[in-house]
Amino acid sequence: MNDENRQFDCAVVQGASRGIGLEFTRALVADPRYRQVVATCRDPQRALALTRLRESNHGRLAILELDVTQEESIKAAAAATADLELPVNLIINSAGILHDHRIGPEKRLADIEPTTIQQVFAINAVGPLLVAKHFSPLFDRRARTVLANLSARVGSIEGNALGGWYSYRASKAAQNMFTRNLSVELKRRHSGIICVALHPGTVDTELSRPFQRNVPEHKLFSVERAAGHLIEVINGLQAHDNGRFYAWNGSEIAW
Ligand SMILES: NC(=O)c1ccc[n+]([C@@H]2O[C@H](COP(=O)([O-])OP(=O)(O)OC[C@H]3O[C@@H](n4cnc5c(N)ncnc54)[C@H](OP(=O)(O)O)[C@@H]3O)[C@@H](O)[C@H]2O)c1
Repeated sequence: MNDENRQFDCAVVQGASRGIGLEFTRALVADPRYRQVVATCRDPQRALALTRLRESNHGRLAILELDVTQEESIKAAAAATADLELPVNLIINSAGILHDHRIGPEKRLADIEPTTIQQVFAINAVGPLLVAKHFSPLFDRRARTVLANLSARVGSIEGNALGGWYSYRASKAAQNMFTRNLSVELKRRHSGIICVALHPGTVDTELSRPFQRNVPEHKLFSVERAAGHLIEVINGLQAHDNGRFYAWNGSEIAW
């Protein structure tokens, strides 16, 4: 089934305050096929770019508070989305963490801190799963619906030849397993569901900034380019893609 001419009711972007999530939101709001876009972020007051986008798209963009580490906030955002009375045809889980002011990716075993592993897992792995738990009842059961989790190539167990980045790699591997599980369970009651893990390439955002030095210029994508690639992949997904892991160019990645 190709989506080029289809009309959609509602798309949800989780983790939309900045980075690739913000750009997904921009692209979906600009796409007249979507009646409604819901963008979630943990602090709507501070999400100025999203607020500006809503000002120029009256009615079509809703901004909701959602912190993936707080299940109550996920539940509340799902309830507010349900109030829109539009089935959800697409949900993109974009929020993720590699580093912040306190933590950074581990280079070696001696760097391991249990609290870092827990924080990274809570955001990168458990978060998207809880979003699926509370938003999947809103999915459009009559039609093709895509649940896309932003993963990372470094989460591939098969592809791990370099080591390091313990928390990030393992959290994305766990997220990948959750995506695969969802592809099995949700398919039982919704024949049109397609759950995928997506790798955006190396993208010029806060997340990758400290690690861009050795990335050749042509391999460092702008957020516009990355979101554009992944929307093309999402648009082309077919039923048999359910439960698979794809890169930005549509090539499959081994789990
Ligand atoms: N950039 C890359 O090169 C790259 C490569 C491979 C995979 N990815 C994946 O792509 C996704 C998007 O990455 P990005 O580069 O756009 O990252 P980014 O620019 O650092 O943005 C991260 C986003 O995650 C949100 N977030 C963090 N903690 C959250 C929480 N507890 N609850 C809700 N939202 C939270 C942030 O919200 P706040 O504004 O509130 O902090 C922000 O919107 C991630 O899953 C990442 O792992 C990125």
